Amino acid sequence: MATNPSWVVLKFGGTSVSSRGRWETIAEVISERLTEEATGRVMVVCSALSGVTNQLEEIIAQAPRGAHHEVLAAIVQKHLRLGDDLGVDAELLLHEEFSALERLALGASLVGEVSPRVQAQILSCGELMSTRLGAAFVGGLLKEVRWMDARTLLRTVAEPHASLRRRYLSAACEASIDRELQARLAGASERVVMTQGFIASNDAGESVLLGRGGSDTSAAYLAAALQAERLEIWTDVPGMFSANPRQVATARLLKRLDYAEAQELATMGARVLHPRCLGPVREHNIALHIRCTPEPRQEGTVIAAQAVGQGPQVKAVSAKHGVTVISMETLGMWQQVGFLADTFAVFKEHGLSIDMVATSESEVSVTLDPMANALDPAALARLQRDLGRTCKARIVEGCAVVSLVGRQVRSILSQLAPALNVFEEQQIYLVSQSASDLNLSFVVDEAQADRLVSRLHQLLFGEQGPDALFGPSWEELSGRVLPQAPFADAWWRGRRDELLKLAEQGATYAYSPETLRTQAARLTSMASIDRVFFAIKANPNPEILRLLEARGLGFECVSPGEVAHIRELFPQLETGRLLFTPNFAPRREYEQGFEAGAMVTLDNLYPLEAWPEVFEGREVLVRVDPGQGAGHHRYVRTAGPKSKFGVSVEELPRLAELAEQINLKVVGLHAHVGSGVRRAGTWSSTAVFLAQCRAHFPDVRWLNLGGGLGVPERPGQEALDLGAVDASLAEFKKAHPTLELWLEPGRFLVSEAGVLLARVTQLKTKGAYHYVGLETGMNSLIRPALYGAYHAIVNLTRQGEAPEVEAEIVGPICESGDVLGHARWLPRCAEGDVLLLANAGSYGRAMSSRYNLREPAAEVMLPALELGE
Ligand code: LLP
Repeated sequence: MATNPSWVVLKFGGTSVSSRGRWETIAEVISERLTEEATGRVMVVCSALSGVTNQLEEIIAQAPRGAHHEVLAAIVQKHLRLGDDLGVDAELLLHEEFSALERLALGASLVGEVSPRVQAQILSCGELMSTRLGAAFVGGLLKEVRWMDARTLLRTVAEPHASLRRRYLSAACEASIDRELQARLAGASERVVMTQGFIASNDAGESVLLGRGGSDTSAAYLAAALQAERLEIWTDVPGMFSANPRQVATARLLKRLDYAEAQELATMGARVLHPRCLGPVREHNIALHIRCTPEPRQEGTVIAAQAVGQGPQVKAVSAKHGVTVISMETLGMWQQVGFLADTFAVFKEHGLSIDMVATSESEVSVTLDPMANALDPAALARLQRDLGRTCKARIVEGCAVVSLVGRQVRSILSQLAPALNVFEEQQIYLVSQSASDLNLSFVVDEAQADRLVSRLHQLLFGEQGPDALFGPSWEELSGRVLPQAPFADAWWRGRRDELLKLAEQGATYAYSPETLRTQAARLTSMASIDRVFFAIKANPNPEILRLLEARGLGFECVSPGEVAHIRELFPQLETGRLLFTPNFAPRREYEQGFEAGAMVTLDNLYPLEAWPEVFEGREVLVRVDPGQGAGHHRYVRTAGPKSKFGVSVEELPRLAELAEQINLKVVGLHAHVGSGVRRAGTWSSTAVFLAQCRAHFPDVRWLNLGGGLGVPERPGQEALDLGAVDASLAEFKKAHPTLELWLEPGRFLVSEAGVLLARVTQLKTKGAYHYVGLETGMNSLIRPALYGAYHAIVNLTRQGEAPEVEAEIVGPICESGDVLGHARWLPRCAEGDVLLLANAGSYGRAMSSRYNLREPAAEVMLPALELGE
């Protein structure tokens, strides 16, 4: 061992510390580092268990209403379970944090608020708990682990004029060498120190946080303080890639980057590293290695002073989502002195940090990065109002920044020109080229961003093989080479002959009864769910409805037409299986809903105020706006003040009062946050939210958690973990055993069961573009045009043939938006070939039209397979 042993700092993120298997890897990595020649000491910095910081935030949100008990119990359970797996006594080890959380939450419920100071204390418990468990486990194996409280290691810089939130929740440290700390640790007998990321202390010795994602930054500060040999950030992907590998399977590992390039990539949306962590290592010239806990043998990315190859080169394509653009037009005063200073001062007043800027003589556009700014609608409205003093401000939300990142991008613009063609048909809100010449960025509609990134990546790196800079591709690395053709195991691959035959009749939607049954069974077998209603707007095809009715599902209808359709098909259907959820409907429709024996959902106070007699003495559900939406596109996110749906929480007391006056009983509460959601915690959050709203409505016995369950649409996308949805709701149910839980999905039941078949009519080549024309287009399937939705497209006639051309798949409608698929790789197509569009069972035929007086595709339910049920 070296005489003056130096440090390696290892940082492990949330997913890397959440299971025994991962902790075994951590122990192995530590013991390897201990035996390395150059190093003798290891500092391990850990995040909280995956999901725990979010749960702690949930406590902060719920505690003022005294509604934190469930989340707290779930956090305790999670740690006890991991403790059991690790064979350590979590109850004993975490006693202090468990009781601190209880005490802090109770305090918050008594005072009705949580100050930033207390928030910091609550949030710091996550890391304290994960490291206590980890230190006990690794200590048991290696015997020389010392657990240290990060608050004794990192001191933040005082910012007396900053807001309390900034001082307690998003503080910073100085990235300086700390000889006193080095001396203190050199004297210790243990060679391994385990401590927490994210937390530090201020001058008063109080707990403060370094901002979300701050664990990387903690590790970087500690590496600087200890003058570490290197910093290793262990995460769940093997490094930085030439594009987001979850989205672009051919993205290549970047083996080596210099600090500036890595900083640029981290800032531009590659979420492997927190952008703030590069400053300290760069300042002290400490190499940073990104490593992968699930694949500890992979080399990862090395970030150091010297990159590979110094010439101009684009190294990656990235997208940053959730960006807001603000365009400010001067009020007619051309060359007005101080215009920029005045407008930017308003951003400063509002505590908003500007990311990109473009100026012209009469207009300035800037972007606000969601990572750096808290952008709720109210904050934006205030900003717009105050900007009005100096200019006319227009706010465009839901944008994304697509960037080409590399060196001296400016000097190779002409080489990039063909790739930049992809922007041709996009609305570009802003183009910016960084002053450092490390990126060229385009601000576009969020819905277009992923497609543009895939396309640009293909054009720029399609031919790229491994070399000194580019490592293996994601698909090679993951050993899970994505099927060449998307959806390799989809049902329709096995029914090709039948489908080809069907398509001879013309454009057709074909439905698989087996897939419908499977999806229905998956939902009806969820232990936590009492009733499932099919949102028939997704697909009111009678045969589909019959199949679902026979499986016990109910139906959610949004119009008298839908209600009548169900009543006609199922005259005997029990009341408890018919739900009517109108929105801004006329008075008569509510009457019709009650007459038809449906359970009616109210989503406004107006009907009670204007037509109380319609509701007198009845029972209804009330749709509440949960404030925060989710979903695949902004048109399908249904919450917040900009959404027309639901009653706001503030209005509930008034609604309760109106109900009382007319003896109307609110027996159920409803919320639907949006559509196409694949995050498993969504529905339990809705349940927790609705349970709180119950305070105003003593008769509530049903919680309708809405629909919105998403399915994978793009190749490589993760499916919704329905087991996790069920488990989280089961937890909720334990606390509320008397409440019935309902779901009302549309897409999840029918999307994958349906495909759209259409024959090729003509081919065309124009410049670099190949067009494949189909007999039907947006009149049958409007989702690509309306939401930028992606439907996998295969040439069924040539199934199995290698893709050869990149083509635009278009229909015959007289609109340039009549494009069903952009930049799709297909075998060479010929007239009469049958193309199949996947995931077309929901909102396909249901949203079709006779636009241009072209009939939309017909519908056929395929016969059940012999092996059916
Ligand atoms: N419940 C309510 C109150 C809804 O508004 C909706 C859908 C659902 C349930 C069913 O949502 P699902 O489970 O299908 O996501 N046309 C769009 C989707 C619009 C959804 C409208 N509301 C699309 O093609 O993606």
